[in-house]
Amino acid sequence: MSDLPFTFVVPLPGALPSRVDNHIQRRLSAMQGQFLDQVTYGKMLAEDDRLVYEVYEIHRPEIAGELLMGISIVHPGKVGREFYMTKGHFHTVIDTAEVYYCLEGEGFMVMETPEGETSVEPLSPGKVLYVPPRWAHRSVCSSRQQDLITFFIYPGNAGHDYGTIEQLGFRKLVVDGEHGIEMIDNPRYQGR
Ligand code: PA5
Ligand code: NI
Repeated sequence: MSDLPFTFVVPLPGALPSRVDNHIQRRLSAMQGQFLDQVTYGKMLAEDDRLVYEVYEIHRPEIAGELLMGISIVHPGKVGREFYMTKGHFHTVIDTAEVYYCLEGEGFMVMETPEGETSVEPLSPGKVLYVPPRWAHRSVCSSRQQDLITFFIYPGNAGHDYGTIEQLGFRKLVVDGEHGIEMIDNPRYQGR
């Protein structure tokens, strides 16, 4: 891998980067156990393994000192009342931060610490979000028509810990409620 400075462009609209080293596509089948309404999840999956989100990564060595960048695209859609979202994760090296820059669409970043502190930040074009060290993070697309597109950058040694979130999900859920978009407590955390 070259260590020379480089540039790439992220043309709008669309935000498909001019340089892509890896393209990840996550479908409903990759989101087992994540959506609250498991009955609707099962029905939807039986019909079609829909595409939920995509990530375009620019490769750099996964070591401290490097920065990993890419574009995340969460498509519009819902499972029951819950909007499409990324799996979400803690960083394996938990005291590593991340920056997101929203390019298109509307949505939220759902975040929490291992101690149970929570934060849900709205995302819209032009907004920069700083995810501090120790905060797990998940992007949620709350638009009915438009993709939520963000640019992200994080330390090369951060890694992804999906396992913790896979157990119960996040403490807060973003749903299409009776009175519009609502942040609700995840019932799976009741009594914990
Ligand atoms: O590291 C990040 O936070 C992003 O690159 C995410 O990996 C991306 O948004 C996809 O989400 P996830 O890794 O939770 O599937
Ligand atoms: Ni991350």
